[in-house]
Amino acid sequence: MKLKIMEKVAVYPGTFDPITYGHIDIVKRASEIFEKVIISVAENPHKNPIFTIEERVDIIKELLRELKLENVEVDSFSGLLVDYLKKKNVRVIIRGLRVISDFDYEFSYSSMNKKLWDEIETLFLMTNERYSFISSTLIKEVFQLGGDVSDYAPEIVINKLKEKMKGG
Ligand code: COA
Repeated sequence: MKLKIMEKVAVYPGTFDPITYGHIDIVKRASEIFEKVIISVAENPHKNPIFTIEERVDIIKELLRELKLENVEVDSFSGLLVDYLKKKNVRVIIRGLRVISDFDYEFSYSSMNKKLWDEIETLFLMTNERYSFISSTLIKEVFQLGGDVSDYAPEIVINKLKEKMKGG
């Protein structure tokens, strides 16, 4: 059964430092609901990302080509998410919910976004249980300490992490 959704485009924002299978699962499912999904990489300097915003965008571009997700694009933004959405004329934000503890944060976050622009709606998809305990930080930490993260991040990401660790 196809869902009937009036809005055609949705934005999936995040830091994606780096993108993981958990994010990819959300993207794939959102791309079956919306005609177009834009993965929007936030600059987020307070998170001290290891990949630059351009590197994160390039990794996602390469991945989308490999996955043949033709209705998914990648873009980047800095500043307020709602300002970016207004500029793009998009009214739907996609967020993944992993564990109960995500709820508090997401509740205040989506409420604040709605206060800032009441025309937007945040749509939550439950993260696949296989990925509900991972985060980009956890992947980076395990990788840095020599652990196998191949169940949680695609090869492209792992290769880029290797390059980074070598000082690239
Ligand atoms: N599977 C696996 N991991 C997931 C996941 C999923 N489905 N969904 C989220 N995660 C991980 C992320 O990798 C991230 O890991 P990290 O903290 O180690 O980097 C963590 O869970 C938190 O994810 P998320 O809540 O999506 O945070 P984020 O940093 O990726 O994105 C922004 C947050 C960028 C969307 C948000 O800060 C933003 O919009 N900023 C713009 C400024 C703004 O408008 N601020 C006011 C908001 S009211």
